[in-house]
Amino acid sequence: MKAVEVKNGIFWVGAVDWEVRDFHGYETPRGTSYNNYLIMDDDITLVDTVKCDFSELMIRNIKSLVDPGKIKNIVINHIENDHMTGIGDIMALTPNAAVYITEKGKKGIERFFDISKWNLKVVKTGDTLCTGKKTLLFLETPMLHWPDSMMTYVKEDKVLISQDAFGQHIASAARFDDEYVTCQSMAELDDAVVDYYANILMPFGQLIKNKIADVQKLGLQIEIIAPDHGIIWRQNPGKVLQMYLDLASGKADCSVAIIYDTMWHSTEKMTVPLLEGVRSEGVGCKIIKLRATPMSIAVKELWKARGCLIGTPTLNNIMFPSVANFLTHVRGLRPKNRVAGAFGSYGWGGGAVKEAYEMFKKMGLDVVEPGVEVNYKPSEADEKKIFEFGAEFARKVKEHHAKFN
Ligand code: FEO
Repeated sequence: MKAVEVKNGIFWVGAVDWEVRDFHGYETPRGTSYNNYLIMDDDITLVDTVKCDFSELMIRNIKSLVDPGKIKNIVINHIENDHMTGIGDIMALTPNAAVYITEKGKKGIERFFDISKWNLKVVKTGDTLCTGKKTLLFLETPMLHWPDSMMTYVKEDKVLISQDAFGQHIASAARFDDEYVTCQSMAELDDAVVDYYANILMPFGQLIKNKIADVQKLGLQIEIIAPDHGIIWRQNPGKVLQMYLDLASGKADCSVAIIYDTMWHSTEKMTVPLLEGVRSEGVGCKIIKLRATPMSIAVKELWKARGCLIGTPTLNNIMFPSVANFLTHVRGLRPKNRVAGAFGSYGWGGGAVKEAYEMFKKMGLDVVEPGVEVNYKPSEADEKKIFEFGAEFARKVKEHHAKFN
């Protein structure tokens, strides 16, 4: 993809990764992009780089605008490998450039590169860099989502380069939200935002709310939000800000996600009466089989729904491995304001459902106990019991939803 002007001499010079489906263990069925931005001012400034496998594409884009040797400043908003590793290739072309980075970023980047000869400038919130006609304001955003993270705001153009925040894992020929919706759909873009948030930013909800409040206090006007992945928000940046506030506040649909795995289809057979029980209370419901679904999508579905019912067969007295793996991952994401319950089948001895509840309690979720467990396969009487549990769970979800949405 060629360099694209975002606004008044600020160019996207990144790379689209059409092929990536496994992003450090997080499935990316839509691919992704590594966005970075070249500011063509008196002092040419590059904000962020790309994953080093894509340096050649980035450098070609820069060369279409200027000799990379003329870059005077490089801003590193975030030192995760997908944005920072390309700096080695850029520094080889412009070794005297000043590198602007946070203190934590400096401590991290020196683990990757010999920075002894670099002209490094450590910055903090409120520091500015004048590039000629433009002023760059730095805003630290520690733990959003790494300790080193910051954002760069171009004052004159009201452009916020937001690194990972507000991004999405999407590979597309479109660079902007208004272009994307002409070839795809707004619903798909929204879905990609939720997917990204749920899998990467879920643990940091309170920090996100605080940081957005800080930005509002500073009175920054934002006309464009340019993240380091996916689509740039120029038509309606306020929409993605509001989406983040809602996601960070734990807003959810009044619905239930049934997320399960199965050995010999018995736990699977339980999902239908369970869904019917939930639906009998007028609550929406979706069934997701773990081994048939990328984990990142199961996480997104869990976060979209107010309630989650986890189905697991018992294997050797404990949870089925794919379910245990999923719940371990979810525990790290620290979901809040959600209701959980469990169900499953067993042969000669149970235990998985009990273990799932122990996990829910460690996560601080609101639970509907004791769940439902059946021996070998559900009988007609079991199906009635399962239906009733689904209905009881849905009533709890409605009650919880009224409190938290
Ligand atoms: Fe896209 Fe935190 O890296």
